[in-house]
Amino acid sequence: MRHYGWIVGAWLLLGCGPRVETTVIEAMPDGDVVAEGHQLYDKYCKLCHAEGGKGYAADDANQLANPEFLQAASDGFLQMAIDQGRPGTPMAAYGKTFGGPLSHAEEHTIVAYLRSLQTKPSARLEPGLASGDATRGATLFQEHCSGCHGETAQGSTALSLNNPVFLLTASDGYLRYAIEHGRSGTPMPAFAGDLEPKSIEDLTSFLRSLARNVDSAPRGEMPPTFDQAVIHPNGPDPNFPALREGRFIAAERVKDALARGAKLVLLDARPTSEWLNSHIPGALPVPYYDSNRMTAKLPRDGTWILTYCGCPHAASGSVMDTLRREGFPRTAVIDEGIFEWIRRGYPITYGRSAAVGAPP
Ligand code: HEC
Ligand code: HEC
Repeated sequence: MRHYGWIVGAWLLLGCGPRVETTVIEAMPDGDVVAEGHQLYDKYCKLCHAEGGKGYAADDANQLANPEFLQAASDGFLQMAIDQGRPGTPMAAYGKTFGGPLSHAEEHTIVAYLRSLQTKPSARLEPGLASGDATRGATLFQEHCSGCHGETAQGSTALSLNNPVFLLTASDGYLRYAIEHGRSGTPMPAFAGDLEPKSIEDLTSFLRSLARNVDSAPRGEMPPTFDQAVIHPNGPDPNFPALREGRFIAAERVKDALARGAKLVLLDARPTSEWLNSHIPGALPVPYYDSNRMTAKLPRDGTWILTYCGCPHAASGSVMDTLRREGFPRTAVIDEGIFEWIRRGYPITYGRSAAVGAPP
């Protein structure tokens, strides 16, 4: 349970907090989980990323134990890198969904192991999109970066910077941070002293402009529209038991109800970007910051409306409170949240809309 609390803590700001991309570590990962992650790391990753994440054992695989890397990389970033890999590079997709060997629970243990190698507190990444000039950034890139990262940022002695999965998961704050602070103990210099802030902004905008569609996604999916909100519209009532504290329904009940074809509505309370990455099949993205204007379109006929997030209660609780204030009669929060749902191997959709990867 401690382990779970830690994962939730680390994901907190990704799923539920104000939209500041940082990683929060509330407690150290559970020793057993780290040990399991370490074993899996040695089995699947050491080959390239070297013992203890020191990097460069093969394929110029970067340092995973690098202090500045771990300061900036969120758990979600790491997990996506492991799950989907970096298509077109030696970094394969290790997730079962993509034909790899690892379950999501196993991926989480590797993330916990990597997190245990972190020696400095997580960075507070600057929020906000880069406002530089990408054309100027392209020139600067040829001058300062292409020698290691390749002419088109496709990777050379240093890793690629144009990879769609990378650019999908790395925020502008992450890119900026890497350019400013570099990666100590590797060839990646810190440019904060050498380049003006404006140039760093131009470079960040240039890298962002390289974003492309993620074509490795097993299935692309656009969010359903509100008239598709009801899952199994002709199905039976789910017959949920009394809610815990009048608010929470156990994930297992929901999974069983869905399997029985019961009629209900599922709302994913996280930012839509998180919905695009993974959601419970049939769930509608109704981010906590948008829920007010979305509830108007939901059925008021007593259909159960369930919310969930990663936290597992903050964002989902807030959306449910909105629904209750507006008089929806039957609402509940999925108690354990989506990460526990995923960890248990319950049905989940991983997907991308066709638009993802396009420049913002
Ligand atoms: C066959 C070699 C190889 C193996 C095995 C491998 N990787 Fe990688 N990995 C790479 C390379 C190369 C890159 C950089 C790809 C690029 O150019 O974008 C990378 C990138 C990554 C990144 C992204 C780093 C960043 O800064 O963007 C993470 C995280 C990662 N690997 C974790 C793992 C984990 C965990 C495993 C084991 C489950 C693993 N890798 C196995 C070669 C490998
Ligand atoms: C001398 C070689 C070298 C030069 C020059 C260089 N880099 Fe790097 N860069 C690297 C290496 C090596 C890494 C990975 C280090 C590691 O193992 O963590 C890296 C990492 C990065 C990362 C993090 C990527 C990730 O997946 O996390 C970014 C962003 C980046 N470089 C941008 C730039 C930009 C922009 C420039 C030019 C202003 C530049 N680099 C110049 C070698 C270089």
